[in-house]
Amino acid sequence: MKELLLELKVLLGLGKWYKVFSSMEVALATIPDKKSILVHLSETEICLARDETKISAFINSCPHHQMPLNRGTFNEKQEWICPYHRHCFNLNDGRNMTMPETKQLELFYLKSKKNGLYVYKSN
Ligand code: FES
Repeated sequence: MKELLLELKVLLGLGKWYKVFSSMEVALATIPDKKSILVHLSETEICLARDETKISAFINSCPHHQMPLNRGTFNEKQEWICPYHRHCFNLNDGRNMTMPETKQLELFYLKSKKNGLYVYKSN
């Protein structure tokens, strides 16, 4: 259902799938485990973070004090740790697990297809 909604948004010109790697295998070989790399999608910096075989995509700006998140890492609960004040973020829903009352981390959808790994970004 989520995929259908995203495809509808693409059809309506409300967003776009961006190819970020030629395949999931290439992404897994390129992104170091427990780290992230940055990709730029139309002036937006997005972190692609790898935890073993799972890749997550999120904005490179911490909701706490807007510092870059790309030099963070994962904790044992598979949450992303901001390198500045060490707030932890749930990468399934963006919740700040350290200060739950604060703004959520902006996440992006990923899609793995035969011809590549794609990130959805709305306009
Ligand atoms: S800037 Fe990320 S936790 Fe403060």
